[in-house]
Amino acid sequence: MAADQNSQAQNSQTQGSQAENSETNSENQAAPLHPAVPLGDAALDQLFRTARSYSYFLPKPVDDATLRRLYELMKWGPTSVNGCPARILFLRTPESKQRLVPALAPTNVAKMLSAPIAAIVGFDIRFYDQLEKLAPQSPGYKTMFEKSPELADATARRNSSLQGAYLMLAARALGLDCGPMSGFDNARVDAEFFGAGKEITGCEQEFFPMTHVRSNFICNLGYGDPSRLHPRSPRLEFEEACALL
Ligand SMILES: Cc1cc2nc3c(=O)[nH]c(=O)nc-3n(C[C@H](O)[C@H](O)[C@H](O)COP(=O)(O)O)c2cc1C
Repeated sequence: MAADQNSQAQNSQTQGSQAENSETNSENQAAPLHPAVPLGDAALDQLFRTARSYSYFLPKPVDDATLRRLYELMKWGPTSVNGCPARILFLRTPESKQRLVPALAPTNVAKMLSAPIAAIVGFDIRFYDQLEKLAPQSPGYKTMFEKSPELADATARRNSSLQGAYLMLAARALGLDCGPMSGFDNARVDAEFFGAGKEITGCEQEFFPMTHVRSNFICNLGYGDPSRLHPRSPRLEFEEACALL
């Protein structure tokens, strides 16, 4: 118990100094705290043990600044060759969310519409075009991916899924709830949102090259409605899912 309290006190000190660092240094280049201290129970509950997948959300908005903070956290999660293939389209207007409706499984429509944000987590199949910036120490990687579309595709899919998981944990760390969904027609989403020659309406910033992007999964974001949760299903025990060699 005392050790727990100790580590929680350390956590809050650490969180304080990290918050200061991120205020003063947007790229977070401060020396890492090493060895890292284990997070306290409250943080572990929020990230994992009491966090749920929410189907329905409260009518409480999420502002653009929060979405930017979310990306600023998730972007640090590791990816192969630091390729960062995920591209995220945050649908945050009723009009943009309506465009997603025809592609969804019918059981997912009301769920998505209840969320203030529907994030389409996609991947850039030409992610390797950014490697000059992202992996300047390894100039050969770009050619390697250009020569093998299969490797590029597998790498983009694997790592955008990982980045989607970082997004969910970052969202939970910021006090948001998530409702991931794969019950939709990827080809329809790709045609509607990432199709060749189509403009993304209502997007104020210069965006990623759309024709290179494919959808992976959708993650609804907001503040979950606990009254609509089903009882939690069990997970596999350590002995069922893991082995020690
Ligand atoms: C990649 C992915 C796809 C999912 N697709 C759907 C979906 O299409 N519709 C839905 O209602 N839930 C979907 N879920 C939610 C899962 O059913 C839920 O995460 C799982 O049952 C665990 O629930 P819990 O986190 O509340 O314990 C999806 C979850 C993930 C991670």
